[in-house]
Amino acid sequence: MPTTQYGKQGWTPARIEDLNGKTFVITGANTGAGFEASRILLSKGAEVVMLNRNEQKSNKAIADLKGALGASAKVSFIKMDLSELASVGSAAADLNKTLPKIDALMCNAAIAQVPKQTFTTDGFESQLGVNHYGHFLLCGLLYEKVEQSNGRIVVVGSEGYKMGIKTIQFDDMNWDKNYHPMNTYCHSKLAQIMFAYELQDRIKAANKDVQVYVCHPGASATSLIKNSGGLKDRILFGLMSMTPLVQSAERGAYPEVMCATEAEENLNEKAYYGPTGRMQWTGPVGKCKLEPHAQDKAVATTLWTISEKETNFKWNF
Ligand SMILES: NC(=O)c1ccc[n+]([C@@H]2O[C@H](COP(=O)([O-])OP(=O)(O)OC[C@H]3O[C@@H](n4cnc5c(N)ncnc54)[C@H](OP(=O)(O)O)[C@@H]3O)[C@@H](O)[C@H]2O)c1
Repeated sequence: MPTTQYGKQGWTPARIEDLNGKTFVITGANTGAGFEASRILLSKGAEVVMLNRNEQKSNKAIADLKGALGASAKVSFIKMDLSELASVGSAAADLNKTLPKIDALMCNAAIAQVPKQTFTTDGFESQLGVNHYGHFLLCGLLYEKVEQSNGRIVVVGSEGYKMGIKTIQFDDMNWDKNYHPMNTYCHSKLAQIMFAYELQDRIKAANKDVQVYVCHPGASATSLIKNSGGLKDRILFGLMSMTPLVQSAERGAYPEVMCATEAEENLNEKAYYGPTGRMQWTGPVGKCKLEPHAQDKAVATTLWTISEKETNFKWNF
């Protein structure tokens, strides 16, 4: 087993101190890693606001969390569908009005390996639209609130960033010519990661005190492929989930919770955190190897410009 800066067992929630008074906003928290992250944060006394698209699933998630942690668990949800920029806008407006602070905004929600090219309400290829453009706008609209709290933004990436085409396909962002469920998913996760490193640079240049961290959950037994993947991928991942190649959803939540709570001096913004064991899919949580194409400045700058144009949102640094 590799040794991380947190020792052989890697980062675990045992490191988290009392989170009373802290507020965490998590996208896609009614299931999977987001749900587990919520549970861990709530168990340490935090307030969690989930931004979910499905009301029924959210009410069930809240009931399950309160059932496990007690009725006083400070968990709530606001309806937000990342596949509609207008929905992102109204959820952000709601949060800006009602939440006094955001200690960490955790961009966790995603769809993956969508079998056929589909589009969001605003006409974006669905994986890029939900995973990247939706979060790009959300982060922009909530940024001031995070800054007022000297808070953090956590971007949940994927080892997929180093699969697929390993760059951003600027001449065909919707994949009209070469749509491929996996490559197009990987493209969207690379876009999220590149956005995060570019955001760090812009925050530094503006002399602001907001940290942005990038992580990934390895391979975790969640509903990701079951919900959005094609039949073949669902069967394959279902079978893999019965092997040690795939870890629990709870362990998949550790990297994002670490990035949201660990002391600043123990984290590095230009790093990439996740399981450090076999293929970086499972194992102790710590710093993972990051491929240089994820920090290609020219690509990141162009992606930023396109993302501002497509979401009709200009960051105000
Ligand atoms: N599991 C893995 O092995 C793995 C590997 C690499 C990276 N990741 C990353 O880990 C993160 C967490 O995923 P997970 O594995 O926990 O998957 P999950 O169990 O499917 O959870 C994903 C969450 O995102 C929500 N979501 C999907 N589309 C949305 C939309 N349009 N608007 C708002 N919310 C939406 C889902 O809501 P619904 O319940 O309504 O569908 C769900 O709450 C993702 O960023 C994913 O890319 C996962």
